[in-house]
Amino acid sequence: MIRSLKSAVAIAAVLLGTGFLWAQSGSRPAVTRPQNGAGAVPSGTYRQTTPQQPREVPFEEKLWDWLQKAQYKNWGPLPGVTADAYRGEEPHGAALRLYANRVAAGKSSELPLGSILVKENYSEDAQTLMGITVMYRAKGFDPEHGDWFWAKYEADGRVSQMNGMPVAGRVGMCIECHSGAGGKDFSFANDGR
Ligand code: HEC
Repeated sequence: MIRSLKSAVAIAAVLLGTGFLWAQSGSRPAVTRPQNGAGAVPSGTYRQTTPQQPREVPFEEKLWDWLQKAQYKNWGPLPGVTADAYRGEEPHGAALRLYANRVAAGKSSELPLGSILVKENYSEDAQTLMGITVMYRAKGFDPEHGDWFWAKYEADGRVSQMNGMPVAGRVGMCIECHSGAGGKDFSFANDGR
């Protein structure tokens, strides 16, 4: 009796785990390797995962690992943006810090393919990290919306979730608001230039 109860619990756990995998998968566009001065960003494709296959690491998780390896915290801001924390507005944090890779900083008026912008969102005290939002311009990813890949991470680096879905890829709410940015390039930070 105890044994069958145990195995029922084990099966339920497996099923839940499977559901989790399915929720994470679904066919999504491949992200191509950019020409990138800071070194190649990992490429990733999205495939259906079945319970038998090991879970394929989603692109947004690879991107996070890559950003750590690339030591994005050593990157400068865009020209004209302070390297210190500056006052933010909704929905981003009360205090923000912007980091741009070399591709972006070198030609910020155009933000060429391969540009990566990382924004740390801090609370009012400018010390408590609330989350990290990233924009990465990847050729062919989403031509209708400037080819930007969007992602939001929690302070500990986990991909943020909304309604059980990762906030990464073609994220409607990011695109919608950022489509109002000057120059129609979906970026606000370079609008002064
Ligand atoms: C309601 C509007 C709005 C939404 C939604 C929004 N943003 Fe932003 N975002 C802004 C504004 C305004 C700025 C520039 C001012 C600032 O830094 O607060 C900005 C700045 C940024 C920047 C710095 C580069 C730039 O364009 O200035 C990044 C990176 C960024 N957002 C990522 C994201 C991601 C990823 C999402 C979705 C998860 C998102 N944003 C959703 C309004 C928005």
